[in-house]
Amino acid sequence: MTPPGVLRHPAAHVVLVGMPGSGKTTIGAALARRLGRPFLDTDAEIERRSQMSVRALFARDGETAFRVAERELIAEVTAEARPMVIAVGGGAVIDVENRARLGRAGQVLWLRARPATLSARLGAAADRPLLAADPDGALERLAAEREAAYREAAGGRVIDADTATPSEVVEAALQALLERVQVEVPGRRYEVVIGPGARRELAAQLPRSARRCVVVTQAGIDLDIDPGIPATRVEIGAGERHKSLSSVEACCRAFVAAGLTRSDVVIGLGGGLVTDVAGFAAASYHRGVAVVHVATTLLAQVDAAIGGKTGVNLPEGKNLVGAFWQPEAVLCDTDALASLPEREWRSGLGEIAKCAFLGVAGLEQAPLVDQIAACVAKKAEVVGVDERESARRVILNYGHTLAHALEAAGLAESLTGAPNELRHGEAVAIGVLFAARLAERLGRIDAARVAEHRRVLDAYGLPATMPPGADLDELVAAMHRDKKATKGLTFVLDGPAGVEAVADLDELIVREVLGECLAESAATAAAAR
Ligand SMILES: NC(=O)c1ccc[n+]([C@@H]2O[C@H](COP(=O)([O-])OP(=O)(O)OC[C@H]3O[C@@H](n4cnc5c(N)ncnc54)[C@H](O)[C@@H]3O)[C@@H](O)[C@H]2O)c1
Ligand SMILES: [Zn+2]
Repeated sequence: MTPPGVLRHPAAHVVLVGMPGSGKTTIGAALARRLGRPFLDTDAEIERRSQMSVRALFARDGETAFRVAERELIAEVTAEARPMVIAVGGGAVIDVENRARLGRAGQVLWLRARPATLSARLGAAADRPLLAADPDGALERLAAEREAAYREAAGGRVIDADTATPSEVVEAALQALLERVQVEVPGRRYEVVIGPGARRELAAQLPRSARRCVVVTQAGIDLDIDPGIPATRVEIGAGERHKSLSSVEACCRAFVAAGLTRSDVVIGLGGGLVTDVAGFAAASYHRGVAVVHVATTLLAQVDAAIGGKTGVNLPEGKNLVGAFWQPEAVLCDTDALASLPEREWRSGLGEIAKCAFLGVAGLEQAPLVDQIAACVAKKAEVVGVDERESARRVILNYGHTLAHALEAAGLAESLTGAPNELRHGEAVAIGVLFAARLAERLGRIDAARVAEHRRVLDAYGLPATMPPGADLDELVAAMHRDKKATKGLTFVLDGPAGVEAVADLDELIVREVLGECLAESAATAAAAR
Protein backbone atom coordinates (compact mmCIF):
# COMPACT_ATOMS: atom_id res chain seq x y z
CA MET A 1 0.00 0.00 0.00
CA THR A 2 1.17 3.53 -0.67
CA PRO A 3 1.79 5.36 2.62
CA PRO A 4 -0.42 8.40 3.29
CA GLY A 5 0.73 11.61 1.69
CA VAL A 6 2.86 9.80 -0.86
CA LEU A 7 2.47 11.26 -4.27
CA ARG A 8 1.85 8.71 -6.92
CA HIS A 9 -0.61 8.90 -9.70
CA PRO A 10 -3.45 10.06 -7.39
CA ALA A 11 -2.15 13.63 -7.55
CA ALA A 12 -2.77 13.71 -11.27
CA HIS A 13 -6.58 13.80 -11.34
CA VAL A 14 -8.61 16.63 -12.78
CA VAL A 15 -11.46 17.69 -10.50
CA LEU A 16 -14.39 19.88 -11.46
CA VAL A 17 -16.25 21.85 -8.81
CA GLY A 18 -19.08 24.31 -9.13
CA MET A 19 -22.77 24.86 -8.63
CA PRO A 20 -25.51 22.67 -10.08
CA GLY A 21 -26.10 23.88 -13.63
CA SER A 22 -22.50 24.98 -14.14
CA GLY A 23 -22.00 22.11 -16.59
CA LYS A 24 -19.72 19.83 -14.60
CA THR A 25 -21.21 16.66 -16.05
CA THR A 26 -21.23 17.75 -19.69
CA ILE A 27 -17.86 19.51 -19.54
CA GLY A 28 -16.36 16.74 -17.40
CA ALA A 29 -17.34 14.05 -19.90
CA ALA A 30 -16.03 16.09 -22.85
CA LEU A 31 -12.81 16.91 -21.02
CA ALA A 32 -12.31 13.25 -20.14
CA ARG A 33 -12.72 12.31 -23.81
CA ARG A 34 -10.15 14.92 -24.84
CA LEU A 35 -7.71 13.76 -22.17
CA GLY A 36 -8.39 10.08 -22.86
CA ARG A 37 -9.35 9.39 -19.26
CA PRO A 38 -12.31 7.87 -17.48
CA PHE A 39 -14.92 10.28 -16.18
CA LEU A 40 -16.65 9.96 -12.85
CA ASP A 41 -19.47 12.13 -11.52
CA THR A 42 -19.82 11.62 -7.76
CA ASP A 43 -23.58 12.30 -7.69
CA ALA A 44 -24.20 9.87 -10.53
CA GLU A 45 -21.95 7.28 -8.87
CA ILE A 46 -23.82 7.58 -5.57
CA GLU A 47 -27.09 7.15 -7.46
CA ARG A 48 -25.73 4.15 -9.33
CA ARG A 49 -24.53 2.43 -6.19
CA SER A 50 -27.63 3.13 -4.12
CA GLN A 51 -30.03 2.57 -7.00
CA MET A 52 -31.79 5.74 -5.88
CA SER A 53 -31.84 9.35 -7.02
CA VAL A 54 -30.01 11.92 -4.89
CA ARG A 55 -33.41 13.49 -4.18
CA ALA A 56 -34.78 10.17 -2.91
CA LEU A 57 -31.65 9.61 -0.79
CA PHE A 58 -32.04 13.03 0.81
CA ALA A 59 -35.71 12.29 1.50
CA ARG A 60 -35.04 8.89 3.01
CA ASP A 61 -31.79 9.41 4.96
CA GLY A 62 -31.33 13.18 5.18
CA GLU A 63 -28.50 15.39 3.98
CA THR A 64 -26.04 14.24 6.66
CA ALA A 65 -26.17 10.62 5.51
CA PHE A 66 -25.70 11.74 1.92
CA ARG A 67 -22.63 13.79 2.88
CA VAL A 68 -21.09 10.80 4.65
CA ALA A 69 -21.53 8.67 1.52
CA GLU A 70 -20.15 11.50 -0.60
CA ARG A 71 -17.09 11.90 1.60
CA GLU A 72 -16.38 8.17 1.47
CA LEU A 73 -16.72 8.13 -2.29
CA ILE A 74 -14.38 11.12 -2.69
CA ALA A 75 -11.78 9.39 -0.50
CA GLU A 76 -12.12 6.27 -2.63
CA VAL A 77 -11.96 7.84 -6.07
CA THR A 78 -9.18 10.32 -5.33
CA ALA A 79 -7.03 7.38 -4.20
CA GLU A 80 -7.54 5.71 -7.57
CA ALA A 81 -4.14 5.31 -9.23
CA ARG A 82 -5.36 5.88 -12.77
CA PRO A 83 -5.80 9.59 -13.50
CA MET A 84 -9.45 10.48 -14.01
CA VAL A 85 -11.68 13.47 -14.52
CA ILE A 86 -13.89 13.73 -11.44
CA ALA A 87 -16.93 16.00 -11.15
CA VAL A 88 -18.00 16.43 -7.55
CA GLY A 89 -21.41 17.36 -6.23
CA GLY A 90 -21.98 21.09 -5.77
CA GLY A 91 -21.86 20.97 -1.97
CA ALA A 92 -18.92 18.62 -1.53
CA VAL A 93 -16.21 21.26 -1.22
CA ILE A 94 -17.92 22.91 1.76
CA ASP A 95 -16.43 20.04 3.74
CA VAL A 96 -12.85 20.92 4.74
CA GLU A 97 -11.68 17.32 4.54
CA ASN A 98 -13.09 16.88 1.03
CA ARG A 99 -11.50 20.13 -0.04
CA ALA A 100 -8.07 19.12 1.23
CA ARG A 101 -8.36 15.69 -0.31
CA LEU A 102 -9.45 17.02 -3.70
CA GLY A 103 -6.69 19.63 -3.60
CA ARG A 104 -4.08 16.95 -3.07
CA ALA A 105 -5.62 14.65 -5.67
CA GLY A 106 -4.95 16.88 -8.60
CA GLN A 107 -5.88 20.06 -10.38
CA VAL A 108 -9.21 21.52 -9.31
CA LEU A 109 -11.14 23.63 -11.81
CA TRP A 110 -14.03 25.81 -10.73
CA LEU A 111 -16.73 26.19 -13.39
CA ARG A 112 -18.20 29.54 -12.44
CA ALA A 113 -21.56 30.83 -13.63
CA ARG A 114 -24.01 33.42 -12.28
CA PRO A 115 -27.07 32.17 -10.37
CA ALA A 116 -29.35 33.57 -13.09
CA THR A 117 -27.56 31.45 -15.70
CA LEU A 118 -27.69 28.37 -13.48
CA SER A 119 -31.36 28.86 -12.88
CA ALA A 120 -32.11 29.27 -16.60
CA ARG A 121 -30.18 26.09 -17.36
CA LEU A 122 -31.72 24.00 -14.60
CA GLY A 123 -35.21 25.26 -15.42
CA ALA A 124 -38.27 23.75 -13.86
CA ALA A 125 -36.84 20.29 -14.28
CA ALA A 126 -34.38 20.86 -11.45
CA ASP A 127 -34.54 17.62 -9.53
CA ARG A 128 -32.23 18.91 -6.84
CA PRO A 129 -33.18 18.46 -3.21
CA LEU A 130 -31.59 21.68 -1.96
CA LEU A 131 -33.37 23.80 -4.54
CA ALA A 132 -36.84 22.41 -3.90
CA ALA A 133 -39.23 25.18 -2.92
CA ASP A 134 -37.64 28.35 -4.32
CA PRO A 135 -34.99 27.39 -6.91
CA ASP A 136 -33.93 30.95 -7.77
CA GLY A 137 -33.58 32.06 -4.17
CA ALA A 138 -31.84 28.83 -3.20
CA LEU A 139 -29.34 29.13 -6.05
CA GLU A 140 -28.50 32.72 -5.04
CA ARG A 141 -28.03 31.71 -1.43
CA LEU A 142 -26.00 28.55 -2.13
CA ALA A 143 -23.79 30.31 -4.65
CA ALA A 144 -22.98 33.01 -2.08
CA GLU A 145 -22.34 30.44 0.65
CA ARG A 146 -20.09 28.27 -1.48
CA GLU A 147 -18.14 30.87 -3.42
CA ALA A 148 -15.23 31.02 -0.95
CA ALA A 149 -14.96 27.22 -0.81
CA TYR A 150 -14.91 26.91 -4.61
CA ARG A 151 -12.31 29.64 -4.83
CA GLU A 152 -10.12 28.01 -2.20
CA ALA A 153 -10.42 24.56 -3.76
CA ALA A 154 -9.53 25.79 -7.25
CA GLY A 155 -6.77 28.23 -6.43
CA GLY A 156 -6.44 30.31 -9.57
CA ARG A 157 -8.12 27.77 -11.87
CA VAL A 158 -11.44 29.49 -12.46
CA ILE A 159 -13.25 28.84 -15.73
CA ASP A 160 -15.96 31.07 -17.15
CA ALA A 161 -18.92 28.72 -17.56
CA ASP A 162 -21.38 31.56 -17.82
CA THR A 163 -21.12 33.09 -21.26
CA ALA A 164 -18.83 30.59 -22.97
CA THR A 165 -20.14 27.72 -25.09
CA PRO A 166 -19.45 24.16 -23.90
CA SER A 167 -16.63 23.71 -26.43
CA GLU A 168 -15.09 27.02 -25.34
CA VAL A 169 -15.31 25.90 -21.72
CA VAL A 170 -13.54 22.64 -22.60
CA GLU A 171 -10.77 24.55 -24.41
CA ALA A 172 -10.40 26.95 -21.49
CA ALA A 173 -10.26 24.01 -19.09
CA LEU A 174 -7.56 22.29 -21.16
CA GLN A 175 -5.51 25.50 -21.10
CA ALA A 176 -6.04 25.96 -17.37
CA LEU A 177 -4.53 22.52 -16.78
CA LEU A 178 -1.22 23.64 -18.32
CA GLU A 179 1.38 25.53 -16.31
CA ARG A 180 3.96 27.62 -18.14
CA VAL A 181 7.41 28.54 -16.86
CA GLN A 182 9.77 30.81 -18.76
CA VAL A 183 13.48 30.05 -18.76
CA GLU A 184 15.66 33.04 -19.49
CA VAL A 185 19.37 32.70 -20.11
CA PRO A 186 21.59 35.31 -21.73
CA GLY A 187 20.34 35.79 -25.27
CA ARG A 188 17.66 33.09 -25.10
CA ARG A 189 14.23 32.66 -23.65
CA TYR A 190 12.02 29.60 -23.85
CA GLU A 191 8.93 28.10 -22.39
CA VAL A 192 8.41 24.95 -20.37
CA VAL A 193 4.81 23.73 -20.63
CA ILE A 194 3.68 21.35 -17.91
CA GLY A 195 0.45 19.39 -17.59
CA PRO A 196 -1.86 16.80 -19.10
CA GLY A 197 -1.81 17.08 -22.86
CA ALA A 198 1.19 19.47 -23.00
CA ARG A 199 2.41 17.45 -26.00
CA ARG A 200 -0.38 18.96 -28.09
CA GLU A 201 1.65 22.19 -28.17
CA LEU A 202 4.51 20.50 -29.98
CA ALA A 203 3.81 21.77 -33.49
CA ALA A 204 3.34 25.31 -32.21
CA GLN A 205 6.62 25.21 -30.28
CA LEU A 206 8.82 24.14 -33.18
CA PRO A 207 10.90 26.83 -34.90
CA ARG A 208 9.00 28.32 -37.85
CA SER A 209 11.93 27.57 -40.13
CA ALA A 210 11.69 23.81 -39.54
CA ARG A 211 10.53 21.81 -42.56
CA ARG A 212 11.29 18.38 -41.10
CA CYS A 213 12.32 16.83 -37.81
CA VAL A 214 13.98 13.78 -36.36
CA VAL A 215 12.52 12.34 -33.17
CA VAL A 216 15.18 10.82 -30.91
CA THR A 217 13.56 8.34 -28.54
CA GLN A 218 13.68 4.81 -27.12
CA ALA A 219 11.70 1.65 -27.75
CA GLY A 220 8.72 1.46 -25.42
CA ILE A 221 8.13 5.20 -25.19
CA ASP A 222 4.84 5.40 -27.00
CA LEU A 223 3.53 8.84 -26.20
CA ASP A 224 1.69 9.95 -29.34
CA ILE A 225 3.13 13.21 -30.60
CA ASP A 226 2.29 15.22 -33.68
CA PRO A 227 5.08 17.56 -34.81
CA GLY A 228 2.95 18.76 -37.72
CA ILE A 229 5.89 18.38 -40.14
CA PRO A 230 7.45 15.27 -41.71
CA ALA A 231 9.21 13.28 -39.00
CA THR A 232 11.73 10.43 -38.87
CA ARG A 233 12.24 8.40 -35.71
CA VAL A 234 15.56 7.18 -34.34
CA GLU A 235 15.73 4.93 -31.29
CA ILE A 236 18.66 4.72 -28.93
CA GLY A 237 19.19 2.00 -26.33
CA ALA A 238 18.08 2.20 -22.70
CA GLY A 239 20.52 2.31 -19.78
CA GLU A 240 23.49 4.52 -19.02
CA ARG A 241 25.83 2.60 -21.28
CA HIS A 242 23.78 3.84 -24.22
CA LYS A 243 24.33 7.44 -23.15
CA SER A 244 27.37 7.25 -25.34
CA LEU A 245 29.21 8.81 -28.24
CA SER A 246 28.06 5.92 -30.40
CA SER A 247 24.43 6.84 -29.70
CA VAL A 248 25.27 10.43 -30.66
CA GLU A 249 26.83 9.13 -33.86
CA ALA A 250 23.73 7.04 -34.61
CA CYS A 251 21.55 10.12 -34.09
CA CYS A 252 23.68 12.37 -36.29
CA ARG A 253 23.75 9.77 -39.04
CA ALA A 254 19.97 9.55 -38.84
CA PHE A 255 19.86 13.36 -39.14
CA VAL A 256 21.91 13.14 -42.34
CA ALA A 257 19.74 10.33 -43.69
CA ALA A 258 16.63 12.42 -43.02
CA GLY A 259 18.17 15.41 -44.80
CA LEU A 260 18.01 17.55 -41.66
CA THR A 261 19.36 21.06 -42.30
CA ARG A 262 20.43 23.76 -39.87
CA SER A 263 16.98 25.31 -40.00
CA ASP A 264 15.24 22.04 -39.04
CA VAL A 265 14.71 20.61 -35.59
CA VAL A 266 15.50 17.63 -33.39
CA ILE A 267 12.88 16.39 -30.94
CA GLY A 268 14.03 14.56 -27.80
CA LEU A 269 11.16 12.32 -26.72
CA GLY A 270 12.03 10.46 -23.54
CA GLY A 271 13.65 10.61 -20.13
CA GLY A 272 16.85 12.36 -19.15
CA LEU A 273 18.98 9.89 -21.06
CA VAL A 274 17.22 10.70 -24.31
CA THR A 275 17.15 14.45 -23.72
CA ASP A 276 20.87 14.46 -22.82
CA VAL A 277 21.80 12.50 -25.96
CA ALA A 278 19.37 14.28 -28.30
CA GLY A 279 20.48 17.65 -26.90
CA PHE A 280 24.15 16.87 -27.39
CA ALA A 281 23.58 15.48 -30.89
CA ALA A 282 21.62 18.65 -31.76
CA ALA A 283 24.38 20.83 -30.29
CA SER A 284 26.97 19.06 -32.44
CA TYR A 285 25.18 18.43 -35.74
CA HIS A 286 26.08 21.20 -38.20
CA ARG A 287 27.53 22.93 -35.10
CA GLY A 288 24.08 23.31 -33.68
CA VAL A 289 20.47 22.72 -34.71
CA ALA A 290 17.37 23.51 -32.69
CA VAL A 291 16.06 20.94 -30.22
CA VAL A 292 12.69 20.66 -28.47
CA HIS A 293 12.29 18.22 -25.61
CA VAL A 294 9.18 16.22 -24.83
CA ALA A 295 10.13 14.88 -21.40
CA THR A 296 8.50 11.57 -20.48
CA THR A 297 9.95 10.71 -17.04
CA LEU A 298 9.31 12.64 -13.86
CA LEU A 299 13.05 13.18 -13.47
CA ALA A 300 13.37 14.67 -16.95
CA GLN A 301 10.32 16.87 -16.36
CA VAL A 302 11.55 18.36 -13.10
CA ASP A 303 15.23 18.45 -13.93
CA ALA A 304 17.09 16.84 -16.83
CA ALA A 305 15.25 18.37 -19.79
CA ILE A 306 15.53 21.90 -18.41
CA GLY A 307 18.59 24.11 -18.26
CA GLY A 308 20.57 23.19 -21.34
CA LYS A 309 23.11 20.75 -19.98
CA THR A 310 23.58 17.97 -22.50
CA GLY A 311 26.14 15.22 -22.80
CA VAL A 312 27.14 11.59 -22.73
CA ASN A 313 29.22 9.19 -20.68
CA LEU A 314 32.60 7.67 -21.42
CA PRO A 315 33.60 4.25 -20.14
CA GLU A 316 35.75 6.24 -17.66
CA GLY A 317 32.82 8.05 -16.10
CA LYS A 318 29.45 9.74 -16.38
CA ASN A 319 28.75 12.96 -18.26
CA LEU A 320 32.38 13.52 -19.21
CA VAL A 321 31.62 14.87 -22.68
CA GLY A 322 28.95 17.45 -23.31
CA ALA A 323 27.84 20.93 -24.16
CA PHE A 324 25.50 23.64 -22.97
CA TRP A 325 22.70 23.71 -25.54
CA GLN A 326 19.38 25.27 -24.58
CA PRO A 327 16.19 23.79 -26.07
CA GLU A 328 13.64 25.88 -27.99
CA ALA A 329 10.94 24.62 -25.66
CA VAL A 330 10.29 21.79 -23.21
CA LEU A 331 6.97 19.98 -23.00
CA CYS A 332 6.35 18.08 -19.78
CA ASP A 333 3.23 16.09 -20.53
CA THR A 334 2.08 14.46 -17.31
CA ASP A 335 0.04 11.96 -19.32
CA ALA A 336 3.35 10.28 -20.15
CA LEU A 337 3.88 9.45 -16.47
CA ALA A 338 1.00 7.00 -16.32
CA SER A 339 3.23 4.26 -17.72
CA LEU A 340 6.24 5.06 -15.57
CA PRO A 341 7.58 2.16 -13.49
CA GLU A 342 7.61 2.68 -9.73
CA ARG A 343 11.41 3.04 -9.51
CA GLU A 344 11.46 5.74 -12.19
CA TRP A 345 8.66 7.51 -10.40
CA ARG A 346 10.63 7.46 -7.15
CA SER A 347 13.71 8.72 -8.92
CA GLY A 348 11.83 11.86 -9.96
CA LEU A 349 10.41 12.24 -6.47
CA GLY A 350 13.97 12.34 -5.10
CA GLU A 351 14.68 15.46 -7.14
CA ILE A 352 11.33 17.00 -6.12
CA ALA A 353 12.12 16.33 -2.44
CA LYS A 354 15.48 18.05 -2.98
CA CYS A 355 13.64 21.16 -4.24
CA ALA A 356 11.66 21.26 -1.01
CA PHE A 357 14.93 22.31 0.68
CA LEU A 358 15.85 24.92 -1.89
CA GLY A 359 13.15 27.25 -0.66
CA VAL A 360 10.21 25.92 -2.69
CA ALA A 361 7.35 26.13 -0.19
CA GLY A 362 4.23 23.99 0.13
CA LEU A 363 5.42 21.42 -2.36
CA GLU A 364 4.15 18.15 -0.94
CA GLN A 365 0.52 19.14 -0.61
CA ALA A 366 0.26 20.44 -4.17
CA PRO A 367 -1.12 18.61 -7.23
CA LEU A 368 1.46 16.84 -9.34
CA VAL A 369 1.45 19.45 -12.10
CA ASP A 370 2.06 22.24 -9.61
CA GLN A 371 4.90 20.32 -7.96
CA ILE A 372 6.63 19.83 -11.30
CA ALA A 373 6.05 23.48 -12.23
CA ALA A 374 7.49 24.66 -8.91
CA CYS A 375 10.65 22.59 -9.41
CA VAL A 376 10.99 23.81 -13.00
CA ALA A 377 10.56 27.40 -11.81
CA LYS A 378 13.29 26.88 -9.23
CA LYS A 379 15.63 25.44 -11.82
CA ALA A 380 14.76 28.25 -14.25
CA GLU A 381 15.52 30.85 -11.60
CA VAL A 382 18.90 29.33 -10.78
CA VAL A 383 19.89 28.64 -14.39
CA GLY A 384 18.78 32.16 -15.30
CA VAL A 385 21.40 33.72 -13.07
CA ASP A 386 24.08 31.08 -13.62
CA GLU A 387 23.71 29.17 -16.86
CA ARG A 388 27.20 27.68 -16.80
CA GLU A 389 27.33 26.57 -13.17
CA SER A 390 29.96 28.90 -11.85
CA ALA A 391 28.41 29.48 -8.46
CA ARG A 392 24.70 29.62 -7.79
CA ARG A 393 23.78 26.65 -10.00
CA VAL A 394 25.61 24.30 -7.62
CA ILE A 395 22.70 24.55 -5.18
CA LEU A 396 20.82 22.29 -7.61
CA ASN A 397 23.40 19.70 -6.63
CA TYR A 398 22.08 19.53 -3.07
CA GLY A 399 22.46 15.90 -1.98
CA HIS A 400 24.46 15.11 -5.11
CA THR A 401 27.99 14.81 -3.70
CA LEU A 402 27.11 11.55 -2.00
CA ALA A 403 24.70 10.58 -4.80
CA HIS A 404 27.52 10.88 -7.33
CA ALA A 405 29.82 8.89 -5.03
CA LEU A 406 27.19 6.13 -4.81
CA GLU A 407 27.00 6.18 -8.60
CA ALA A 408 30.78 6.04 -8.91
CA ALA A 409 30.86 3.14 -6.48
CA GLY A 410 28.55 1.24 -8.80
CA LEU A 411 25.64 1.34 -6.33
CA ALA A 412 23.55 3.76 -8.31
CA GLU A 413 22.81 4.27 -11.96
CA SER A 414 26.33 3.19 -12.85
CA LEU A 415 27.57 2.32 -16.31
CA THR A 416 27.45 -1.37 -15.48
CA GLY A 417 23.66 -1.65 -15.55
CA ALA A 418 23.47 -3.91 -12.51
CA PRO A 419 19.80 -4.72 -11.89
CA ASN A 420 19.48 -3.51 -8.32
CA GLU A 421 21.35 -0.26 -8.54
CA LEU A 422 19.68 2.83 -7.15
CA ARG A 423 18.03 5.22 -9.55
CA HIS A 424 19.54 8.69 -9.58
CA GLY A 425 16.81 10.35 -7.52
CA GLU A 426 16.88 7.57 -4.95
CA ALA A 427 20.60 8.23 -4.52
CA VAL A 428 19.86 11.96 -4.24
CA ALA A 429 17.40 11.27 -1.42
CA ILE A 430 20.12 9.43 0.49
CA GLY A 431 22.53 12.28 -0.25
CA VAL A 432 20.08 14.92 0.93
CA LEU A 433 19.63 13.28 4.32
CA PHE A 434 23.36 12.82 4.67
CA ALA A 435 23.96 16.48 3.79
CA ALA A 436 21.43 17.50 6.44
CA ARG A 437 23.18 15.43 9.09
CA LEU A 438 26.53 16.81 8.08
CA ALA A 439 25.16 20.36 8.29
CA GLU A 440 23.83 19.60 11.75
CA ARG A 441 27.22 18.28 12.90
CA LEU A 442 28.82 21.48 11.62
CA GLY A 443 26.31 23.53 13.63
CA ARG A 444 24.71 24.99 10.49
CA ILE A 445 21.21 23.63 11.17
CA ASP A 446 19.47 22.15 14.21
CA ALA A 447 17.99 18.73 14.89
CA ALA A 448 14.49 19.94 14.01
CA ARG A 449 15.64 20.84 10.50
CA VAL A 450 17.16 17.37 10.08
CA ALA A 451 13.85 15.92 11.26
CA GLU A 452 12.12 18.05 8.63
CA HIS A 453 14.38 16.48 6.00
CA ARG A 454 13.36 13.02 7.19
CA ARG A 455 9.70 13.97 7.22
CA VAL A 456 9.73 15.26 3.65
CA LEU A 457 11.63 12.23 2.35
CA ASP A 458 9.17 9.95 4.18
CA ALA A 459 6.23 11.82 2.73
CA TYR A 460 7.59 11.07 -0.73
CA GLY A 461 8.11 7.42 0.18
CA LEU A 462 11.90 7.75 -0.05
CA PRO A 463 13.52 5.71 2.73
CA ALA A 464 17.00 7.24 2.29
CA THR A 465 18.86 4.26 3.71
CA MET A 466 22.31 3.43 2.32
CA PRO A 467 22.37 0.51 -0.11
CA PRO A 468 23.97 -2.73 1.02
CA GLY A 469 27.59 -2.84 -0.06
CA ALA A 470 28.28 0.86 0.50
CA ASP A 471 31.80 1.26 1.78
CA LEU A 472 33.03 4.26 3.75
CA ASP A 473 36.51 4.52 2.23
CA GLU A 474 35.30 3.98 -1.29
CA LEU A 475 32.62 6.64 -0.95
CA VAL A 476 35.02 9.19 0.54
CA ALA A 477 37.53 8.53 -2.24
CA ALA A 478 34.79 9.01 -4.84
CA MET A 479 33.72 12.28 -3.21
CA HIS A 480 37.29 13.53 -3.53
CA ARG A 481 37.19 12.74 -7.25
CA ASP A 482 33.81 14.43 -7.85
CA LYS A 483 34.33 16.91 -10.65
CA LYS A 484 32.29 19.46 -8.75
CA ALA A 485 34.98 19.60 -6.05
CA THR A 486 37.54 22.21 -6.98
CA LYS A 487 39.49 22.02 -3.71
CA GLY A 488 39.25 19.72 -0.68
CA LEU A 489 35.85 18.20 0.04
CA THR A 490 33.08 20.50 -1.13
CA PHE A 491 29.47 19.97 -0.11
CA VAL A 492 26.27 21.78 -0.81
CA LEU A 493 24.83 22.30 2.66
CA ASP A 494 21.80 23.79 4.31
CA GLY A 495 22.38 26.61 6.77
CA PRO A 496 21.03 29.85 8.19
CA ALA A 497 21.20 31.49 4.75
CA GLY A 498 19.68 28.49 2.97
CA VAL A 499 21.46 25.93 0.82
CA GLU A 500 24.95 26.92 -0.38
CA ALA A 501 28.29 25.41 -1.37
CA VAL A 502 30.71 24.89 1.49
CA ALA A 503 34.32 24.17 0.58
CA ASP A 504 37.26 22.65 2.42
CA LEU A 505 35.37 20.45 4.82
CA ASP A 506 37.23 18.49 7.45
CA GLU A 507 37.36 14.95 6.08
CA LEU A 508 37.23 13.46 9.57
CA ILE A 509 33.82 14.98 10.23
CA VAL A 510 32.55 13.80 6.85
CA ARG A 511 33.79 10.27 7.65
CA GLU A 512 32.21 10.33 11.08
CA VAL A 513 28.77 11.34 9.86
CA LEU A 514 28.92 8.99 6.87
CA GLY A 515 29.99 6.16 9.19
CA GLU A 516 26.94 6.83 11.38
CA CYS A 517 24.62 6.80 8.37
CA LEU A 518 26.09 3.51 7.17
CA ALA A 519 25.81 1.93 10.63
CA GLU A 520 22.20 3.05 11.00
CA SER A 521 21.27 1.75 7.58
CA ALA A 522 22.90 -1.58 8.33
CA ALA A 523 20.95 -1.79 11.60
CA THR A 524 17.68 -0.95 9.81
CA ALA A 525 18.37 -3.60 7.19
CA ALA A 526 19.17 -6.19 9.88
CA ALA A 527 15.96 -5.37 11.75
CA ALA A 528 13.96 -5.77 8.55
CA ARG A 529 15.33 -9.27 7.97
N1 LIG B 1 21.04 17.45 -18.24
C1 LIG B 1 20.74 17.56 -16.98
O1 LIG B 1 20.69 18.66 -16.44
C2 LIG B 1 20.43 16.32 -16.21
C3 LIG B 1 19.91 16.42 -14.91
C4 LIG B 1 19.59 15.26 -14.24
C5 LIG B 1 19.79 14.02 -14.84
N2 LIG B 1 20.30 13.95 -16.09
C6 LIG B 1 20.52 12.66 -16.75
O2 LIG B 1 19.27 12.04 -16.96
C7 LIG B 1 19.46 10.64 -17.03
C8 LIG B 1 18.42 9.94 -16.23
O3 LIG B 1 17.16 10.27 -16.74
P1 LIG B 1 15.86 9.45 -16.32
O4 LIG B 1 15.85 9.25 -14.87
O5 LIG B 1 14.73 10.12 -16.97
O6 LIG B 1 16.13 8.01 -16.92
P2 LIG B 1 16.06 7.42 -18.39
O7 LIG B 1 15.96 8.47 -19.40
O8 LIG B 1 17.17 6.46 -18.48
O9 LIG B 1 14.67 6.64 -18.38
C9 LIG B 1 14.51 5.55 -17.52
C10 LIG B 1 13.72 4.43 -18.19
O10 LIG B 1 12.37 4.82 -18.33
C11 LIG B 1 11.93 4.60 -19.67
N3 LIG B 1 10.89 5.58 -19.92
C12 LIG B 1 11.00 6.87 -20.28
N4 LIG B 1 9.80 7.45 -20.32
C13 LIG B 1 8.90 6.50 -20.00
C14 LIG B 1 7.50 6.51 -19.87
N5 LIG B 1 6.78 7.60 -20.05
N6 LIG B 1 6.89 5.36 -19.51
C15 LIG B 1 7.61 4.24 -19.28
N7 LIG B 1 8.94 4.18 -19.37
C16 LIG B 1 9.57 5.31 -19.73
C17 LIG B 1 13.17 4.76 -20.49
O11 LIG B 1 13.03 4.12 -21.73
C18 LIG B 1 14.20 4.12 -19.59
O12 LIG B 1 14.20 2.73 -19.76
C19 LIG B 1 20.86 10.36 -16.54
O13 LIG B 1 21.66 10.03 -17.62
C20 LIG B 1 21.28 11.69 -15.93
O14 LIG B 1 22.66 11.89 -16.01
C21 LIG B 1 20.62 15.08 -16.77
ZN1 LIG C 1 20.14 15.11 -9.99
